[in-house]
Amino acid sequence: MARILPLSGEDADAAIEQAALAIRSGSVVAFPTETVYGLGADALNAESVQKIYTAKGRPPTNPLIVHVLDRDAAKALSSRWPDFADALLGAFAPGPLSIVVPKASSVPDIVTAGMNSVAIRIPSHPVARALLEASGVPIAAPSANRANAVSPTTAQHVQKSLGGRIDLILDGGAAQAGLESTVVDLTVTPPRILRPGPVARSQIEAVIGSVDAPEEFDDSDLINSPGMLRKHYSPDAVLHIVSAADFPSALAARSSENIGCIVHSSHCEPPDYAEVIRLPADARQYGAQLYAALHAMDERGVAEILLEEPPHGDEWHAVHDRLRRAAHQM
Ligand code: TXA
Ligand code: MG
Repeated sequence: MARILPLSGEDADAAIEQAALAIRSGSVVAFPTETVYGLGADALNAESVQKIYTAKGRPPTNPLIVHVLDRDAAKALSSRWPDFADALLGAFAPGPLSIVVPKASSVPDIVTAGMNSVAIRIPSHPVARALLEASGVPIAAPSANRANAVSPTTAQHVQKSLGGRIDLILDGGAAQAGLESTVVDLTVTPPRILRPGPVARSQIEAVIGSVDAPEEFDDSDLINSPGMLRKHYSPDAVLHIVSAADFPSALAARSSENIGCIVHSSHCEPPDYAEVIRLPADARQYGAQLYAALHAMDERGVAEILLEEPPHGDEWHAVHDRLRRAAHQM
């Protein structure tokens, strides 16, 4: 099991120092960010970055996000600073936004899976920032989970997924946003949202004008296009997204054993025999708690989860994106 270093109290500075030393000497460290926990390594050291792929079981074709402290450090990783980069970072950095820009030659190919572009994020979480400061290097970090599993929002989630494969986890409590950063590709015109996240499309368009979002989908597709979607962000249990109206029949169609229900409205009244988690009806708070709910259902060992279909609209987009990837269609 990995050692979990708490960050409250007087040992906090020593914990950061220890983690920074590990990063500088080429190891990987799990650490909190405002989105989800990341598994970090020195982004400029190809051997260190390889350890991330190995620990996660991540395919080498999937590039990583590089975390830096500020805009100058971001520019140093880029061969050409695109239009809109300053405006976007001015509006949303530090915070849950990653920008994809042409990569500098100093960034090892393994970080970008051989692509000519690199994804960069300036995190706001004080622990992530303290770690960057103390390490003195950019930190490549994907979410700190085994490939294709649900991202971790607590140190305990990281321990469960990667504990046998890494040495150190910095424990900064529960991640605040709870969903991975919005990824915007600035190497194309118009810019393109590659992954919806806590910074909504409307917020981005308010700053840089109209953007592409090829993943944009009518949320009813969630239920209507089975088999089209890459499996990702999946819990162990089979997840079904069910409208409140269909909830009773979906329940009736299943045996009463081992069912989990994740609901957010009073329109769904799960039965007593089910494991029940109620989430807030507010999009931000829902997003913050969704992964923890999926982890908790796996912890309770349910075989199937019926999840009440969330509301629609711009601020729910990232939630629907992750659910779509996690769900098995009915
Ligand atoms: O919130 C987050 O972004 C978290 C925390 C730890 O910062 N990290 C995270 O990393 O979610 P990961 O590896 O799970 O997701 C990175 C995403 C992937 O969808 C990847 O394909 C995309 O960013 N990405 C990375 N570099 C890219 C590039 N050069 N071009 C296009 N997409 C890229
Ligand atoms: Mg991930």
